[in-house]
Amino acid sequence: MSIIRVHDKQFEPYLTASEINARIKVLAQQLDKDYAGKKPLFIAILNGSFIFAADLFKELSIDAEICFIKLASYKGTKSSGQVITAIGLDTDLFGRDVVIVEDIVDTGKTLNEFLPQLLHQQPASMKIVALLHKPEATVYPIPIDYLGFSIPNKFVVGYGLDYDGLGRNIREIYKLLE
Ligand code: IMP
Repeated sequence: MSIIRVHDKQFEPYLTASEINARIKVLAQQLDKDYAGKKPLFIAILNGSFIFAADLFKELSIDAEICFIKLASYKGTKSSGQVITAIGLDTDLFGRDVVIVEDIVDTGKTLNEFLPQLLHQQPASMKIVALLHKPEATVYPIPIDYLGFSIPNKFVVGYGLDYDGLGRNIREIYKLLE
């Protein structure tokens, strides 16, 4: 692995494909154990989580469902500002054991605004699995129940994560070279 360029910026190797895969296997084992017999519903948030969600889901041995949603934010009429809605959430969450799948939790803003909407549907439980977390960037603390890697507050690309649309197809994770 060496330095790569995406758009106008240079990125250096950070996590290899095998490090990512090994960690995902551990997460899947924990989920298998915790959700045995519960038929959990995984809700993966697009676009960034599509590769992580697919790789994690393949490693699960238990019965489980998965759906993919896209979050769209628009300016609400209230002074509270942005409103986040989920596109593609067509499953009733009432009484379900829900696991949210995120690529990265940065400030926590997205999940902070979105989770209450899901809880409104009264799932039996709701946990979060995230591949990456930047603790130093936290503005809205989000409890991450299953975490891949805690990373420094640096911009990363690859493995589903993009920089202005590009870089999602890179197999490893790279971080911004400064
Ligand atoms: P948050 O709402 O600040 O937690 O940001 C969450 C979303 O921002 C993620 O789902 C990503 O789509 C995006 N994001 C945050 N940090 C990065 C990064 O370092 N690289 C690529 N996307 C990022």
